[in-house]
Amino acid sequence: MTTEEIIQKCLPDEAGLQKTVIEAMNYSVLAGGKRVRPNLIRETCRLFGGDEKLAEPFMAAMEMIHTYSLVHDDLPAMDGDTLRRGKPTTWSKYGEAMGVLAGDGLLTFAFETAAQAFAMTDDPARVGRAIHVLAHKAGIYGMAGGQAVDVEKTGKPLSEEEMSFIYRLKTGALIEASLMIGAILAGAEEQDVQRMEKIGTNIGLAFQIRDDILDVVSTEQELGKPIGSDERNEKTTYVSLYGLEAAVKEVVRLSEEAIASLSELPGDTAYFRDQIRRMENRRI
Ligand code: IPE
Ligand code: IPE
Ligand code: MG
Ligand code: MG
Ligand code: MG
Repeated sequence: MTTEEIIQKCLPDEAGLQKTVIEAMNYSVLAGGKRVRPNLIRETCRLFGGDEKLAEPFMAAMEMIHTYSLVHDDLPAMDGDTLRRGKPTTWSKYGEAMGVLAGDGLLTFAFETAAQAFAMTDDPARVGRAIHVLAHKAGIYGMAGGQAVDVEKTGKPLSEEEMSFIYRLKTGALIEASLMIGAILAGAEEQDVQRMEKIGTNIGLAFQIRDDILDVVSTEQELGKPIGSDERNEKTTYVSLYGLEAAVKEVVRLSEEAIASLSELPGDTAYFRDQIRRMENRRI
């Protein structure tokens, strides 16, 4: 099954009196997206010789959590954006209250979906640990924590440490989690899970700096989301602080560091090398 089919299969039926919020959830997930995180889960599970079937509920759950983070990020109370994945943002199509609730629905349904994996394995401890990592990296110690600091620091200068704290949490955490979860489900050694986390940290920082670059140099048409959002919201970004050229250099440096770390892993890591390079040069 393709990543797209796995995600689709796990989405809730649009039925019942609460149908509108479910429609808003499915609209947000199916609007598009590169599916970077679920693909990382599957490839990491494959790298460590795991059962890819067991990764499927986690692939869908991760994309639900990532999509929820975007739905809430676009709300008027946060970045106030009206275009995402080439379509009207969830709140601008369904209203603000439904935007909040679709995010709540996606976050919660993600765990309902991931929990399906318990019935698919004779090693439930692995599934339990993967769910713990998913929760930890999505919440206050991960994405939501990073977004909270991002909001608090809006319009204010940032030190290099504060910026990397925000980037590591708001964007890095879900990428770290994707690489860790694939490894955990496959029964990888603890040391390898930690190696995946470190690679995820570097990829995540590079991914957010590339996102900041595209917010300046891309077009709305190509990117599928508004450009200039950061400047409009008075965000201090890597680009606003150090300039475009330094930002491009930092993305290359972080990506090369991640690629170098791949040599510590067992097996054929060509997918990861190629994917890191694609992310380094991405236009969307
Ligand atoms: C966008 O993530 C938000 C960031 C964390 C930088 P993606 O660039 O992965 O967005 P989609 O899923 O492809 O729409
Ligand atoms: C937010 O960063 C990353 C999330 C955790 C959602 P941005 O606010 O820069 O993401 P985009 O540019 O709107 O996708
Ligand atoms: Mg934001
Ligand atoms: Mg945003
Ligand atoms: Mg951005």
